[in-house]
Amino acid sequence: PNASFHLDPAFTIAPVSRRTFGSFVEHMGRCVYTGIYEPTHATADADGFRQDVLALTRELGVSTVRYPGGNFVSGYRWEDGIGPVTDRPVRRDLAWHSLETNEVGIDEFMRWAGKAGVEVMYALNLGTRGVAEALDVQEYLNHPDRTRLAELRRTNGADKPYGISMFCLGNELDGPWQTGHKTAYEYGRLAAETARAMRAAEPDLELVACGSSSSSMPTFAAWESEVLELTYDQVDYISAHAYYEPIDGDIGSFLASAVDMDHFVNSVVATADSVGAKLKSKKRLKISFDEWNVWYLTRFQATRETEWQVAPPVIEDSYNVTDAVVVGSLLISLLRHSDRVTAACQAQLVNVIAPIRTEPGGPAWRQTIFHPFAITSRLAKGSVLRVEPDSPSYPTARYGDVPVVDAVATHDPESGDVTVFVVNRSQDSATTLAVSLAGFGGALRVAESWTVHDDDPDATNTAADPDRVTPRPVPAEVTGGELRVSLAPVSWTAIRL
Ligand code: AHR
Repeated sequence: PNASFHLDPAFTIAPVSRRTFGSFVEHMGRCVYTGIYEPTHATADADGFRQDVLALTRELGVSTVRYPGGNFVSGYRWEDGIGPVTDRPVRRDLAWHSLETNEVGIDEFMRWAGKAGVEVMYALNLGTRGVAEALDVQEYLNHPDRTRLAELRRTNGADKPYGISMFCLGNELDGPWQTGHKTAYEYGRLAAETARAMRAAEPDLELVACGSSSSSMPTFAAWESEVLELTYDQVDYISAHAYYEPIDGDIGSFLASAVDMDHFVNSVVATADSVGAKLKSKKRLKISFDEWNVWYLTRFQATRETEWQVAPPVIEDSYNVTDAVVVGSLLISLLRHSDRVTAACQAQLVNVIAPIRTEPGGPAWRQTIFHPFAITSRLAKGSVLRVEPDSPSYPTARYGDVPVVDAVATHDPESGDVTVFVVNRSQDSATTLAVSLAGFGGALRVAESWTVHDDDPDATNTAADPDRVTPRPVPAEVTGGELRVSLAPVSWTAIRL
């Protein structure tokens, strides 16, 4: 079978937003402790951070990191994690039934973020806490000096304000599992008043209201609508969260997860715009897709029966080639929506449903899903181009007929680079792709081409065999103004021209 599309530099969707390549560090499982932080590890630096993980984080090309949760944040007291470590309390983390030692708090995390070269997106606790505590942490993080909390930060070693510009107004408060779960009205009012107060100090903050914790929530869209009616003028973003996995072994539908992500984004945009229309507002909200990934949620066992432990292993999914192809295709969907989705966080960074895995005291390695993320982050530059593939389709149980090939492209007028990102969802046949480049005037040649594919789609990377699955160059050529490449079954490919 064949697929084709035309690329033209005139048909742009939006600039590539660097924040599309965000990640997420939650105090959950082994993401922080024995993930980014392990003072006794052979690679630990003077601050206790694993330098092997720092190097992989940089290689992954992460732009922004959401912190410190997740469900964890809805019971978190940020002030437990500042000051002398020996004075910090051990607390119960009700979200993950763990013990939190508070050895790592905001000052340590900001140091880690500086070393990793990432921006921090700070999530506030609007579960058990409210306006006053949000203002306190904002003052600690961002106020220059002379106030009690700014001086406390300076005493704790950070002379200059951290200047965090993006704050999440809580996490998944629509979910009954969330500590401090709220109705849309209760949450909308709290988010609006928190935002209003924070903006009194810093009008230009970028604030994210909680959207639904998934599009399958019974309150999906009604939640967004009511929350946004209460917060529209005070916020810049509405959040979206989505996790995908094969259900009952249905790989065909799983490979089409981006169809669901497209629909999800379109639904949130429609809902937000309808609120804007009702309010006679010209303002257009953006989406912060601040949790997304493959997560084998059906394998997840609630941790409540276990003993209270510090950093127990929780949801350490091991990813295969098919998962990596799905992650690549979800990035295609996010890029395609760059006109409205300008921030996104793959959840999470290390160990917990993560592209980077570690062993305590042992190695760190790249999971299969590391590769499409790292390549997309490195190559997606300039503007996103509109792509309308002409592709054969296949039937799926969940989404009906779905195109076999999905793609997006970017064009960087400064360097002249054009990059095509494409997925072949067929499980049994290669697909020949032809891309017409007539709009670029004939000067393009293949500069690099990578594919994530394996004859065994279940292959994974492990501590013992960390490079079992790596991207491989794929033969691609431009002749007569046309790029041609053969896409292997269940593959994700990036070609820079
Ligand atoms: O990323 C894991 C969890 O998924 C987060 O804590 C929560 O926000 C979501 O339900």
